[in-house]
Amino acid sequence: MISKSTIDKVYETARVEEVIGDFVQLKKSGSNFKGLSPFSDERTPSFMVSPVKQIWKDFSSGKGGNIVAFLMEHEHFTYPEAIKYLAKKYNIEVEETERTDEEKAVADERESMYLVSEYANKYFQETLYDTEPGKAIGLTYFKERGFTDETIKKFSLGYCLDQWDGFTSTALDKGYQLNYLQKTGLTIVKEDNFDASKTKKFDRFKGRVMFPIHSMSGRVLGFGGRILTNDKKAAKYLNSPESDIYHKSKVLYGIYYAKQAIAKEDNCYLVEGYTDVIQFNQRGIENVVASSGTALTPEQIRLINRLTKNITVLFDGDAAGLRASLRGIDLILEQGMNVKVCTFPEGEDPDSFSKNNSYDEIVEYLKHNSKDFIQFKASILMQEASDDPIKRADTVRDIVNSIAKIPDRIKKEIYIQECARIMKVSEAVLFNTLAQIGKKDQSDQFKKTRQDRKVLEVVKPELVEEKVDVQYILERKIIESLLLYGEKEEKFEDLVLKENDEGDLELAPESSQIKVYEKIYLDLQEDEIELANDTFRNVYYKLIEALNQKDSFEVSTFIADLDQEMANEISSILMEEERYSLDNWESKDIYPKSKETTIGQLVSETILTLRCFLIKKRMEALQKNTEDNNDDNRETLEEIVNYLQLNMLLNKKLNRVLS
Ligand code: CTP
Ligand code: MN
Repeated sequence: MISKSTIDKVYETARVEEVIGDFVQLKKSGSNFKGLSPFSDERTPSFMVSPVKQIWKDFSSGKGGNIVAFLMEHEHFTYPEAIKYLAKKYNIEVEETERTDEEKAVADERESMYLVSEYANKYFQETLYDTEPGKAIGLTYFKERGFTDETIKKFSLGYCLDQWDGFTSTALDKGYQLNYLQKTGLTIVKEDNFDASKTKKFDRFKGRVMFPIHSMSGRVLGFGGRILTNDKKAAKYLNSPESDIYHKSKVLYGIYYAKQAIAKEDNCYLVEGYTDVIQFNQRGIENVVASSGTALTPEQIRLINRLTKNITVLFDGDAAGLRASLRGIDLILEQGMNVKVCTFPEGEDPDSFSKNNSYDEIVEYLKHNSKDFIQFKASILMQEASDDPIKRADTVRDIVNSIAKIPDRIKKEIYIQECARIMKVSEAVLFNTLAQIGKKDQSDQFKKTRQDRKVLEVVKPELVEEKVDVQYILERKIIESLLLYGEKEEKFEDLVLKENDEGDLELAPESSQIKVYEKIYLDLQEDEIELANDTFRNVYYKLIEALNQKDSFEVSTFIADLDQEMANEISSILMEEERYSLDNWESKDIYPKSKETTIGQLVSETILTLRCFLIKKRMEALQKNTEDNNDDNRETLEEIVNYLQLNMLLNKKLNRVLS
């Protein structure tokens, strides 16, 4: 674990504009910097960096946050990786806190396995280029496949000598422990047939060309080794076994080289093999990863899902296996991704196709032959089952099963219509089948739609322009006030009931001098108001707590502890003004605002408007309730009258603030 003091030092030292400046060309714009979004292809800049607030916001993708969030988003670093990156850039010594002995042992063991793998990677590369057999056998093989030196180096390809323990004995000589060589699978240890007290050690990858498999952040996790002889008995590819650092189901070959291109192109090509990935890269198509011959797992899809919502699965020219692969794709649909498929001509795979065609030809081919997955599946199955009614019924169910996996309701409906057309059945039949399937996993579905709705709520005002959600805007304004002025002490004018000289109660002005966050908290608490929007409510309590505790409140450190959704929301609130100036977008003001208004007025105004709004809503609900039930319940009426009075009072206060 990186120590708290290191993390604090990193945050204190790192400048968001400097760090981002290494990745994005930034131009000064007022007190901010702006540039082209690194997360989308755009021609007019909508990416803003604020040196004052130490945050960034990308208006084209909605992403935003502090400097660590940028590195995690852009470089796909983990949190510790981002901190370490910044520490290195600013020459800050990284201090690791003590772990328990057990934690340490596990971490040390994993670390040792990484080190052994890293060493093996270097050794295999050196063997390829610096030894006679390496050059004559390994390098010749790669060259014959059409790989350039540049490509071979980029993918750190290597060669393992055709000796029983060439690698193992060198590694042991260098001081690497047999234990870790064995745990990573690089060395196989067997009992000696003649002397049981002795063991024999073999190189797992003897005589093979080597493809190292990297993690998302570029560490070597394991290897694939390809045999060079035509030995029918031996497996063509041999892979590292599962280990504490290599989990087949969680790794995609090539992801380290592809991650940036995937995010940038907003699409990922999925191929089967190592050589497909490499050949595509050599041709200049970098957004490609391989499942390494096995069925795709949910974890692997999640890796891609972090980078893009779009995936194009590339199939070899042989039709065999196509049908089996179709099923696996439902997993991708389940994660809400858009799936396309593209098949290659008979006898070709992505490797051979990209070797035999130019970049332009490949791009053209992919563009014209990528088909929407559901439509593709429907037409393939229909061809197979055209005359057989029973088969057709199965086919319909099969397709609807796929459609049922799509979380988005609108998409589902469009696909039903489309498939009805392709399969020549009525939409009603498909909808019925969908409903039957739906009932089975209703609880699952329920959870998913709830999640969808939550996300929708947060982006609502941007999507539905004409229907302004007043409550949303007011709640957002409250958060904004806390973020911008929370700590400031301001003068607040208020009307309070006071006894006048004649001893009667009357509304009299009173001013108080308190901090903005205290004012907001006390006023909202008075009416027991809870913010309705989930994100805002969470942020609200966190903000109040932070403002109440800290001597000095820093947005950039506050944002560091929030989840991504909240951080995005906060950075967009803080950058709102810049956005208006970017887009020349006129804000739809709910209340008049002039430059001379003080912060105190602004805050009071927001709180009062929200209170009035909620009271109005509550009264409407009460009225509707009495109408519906046709009762003239005295209590309800009294309640309404109370609300009316409160509303009048609040309006008086509001008028006072506004005048
Ligand atoms: N694979 C494997 N073990 C095997 C065969 C295949 O792990 N015995 C994996 C490898 O990741 C391989 C992928 O499945 O890259 C695709 O297999 P295949 O199409 O047979 O290999 P190619 O990549 O076409 O290999 P090559 O062109 O070198 O023959
Ligand atoms: Mn091949």
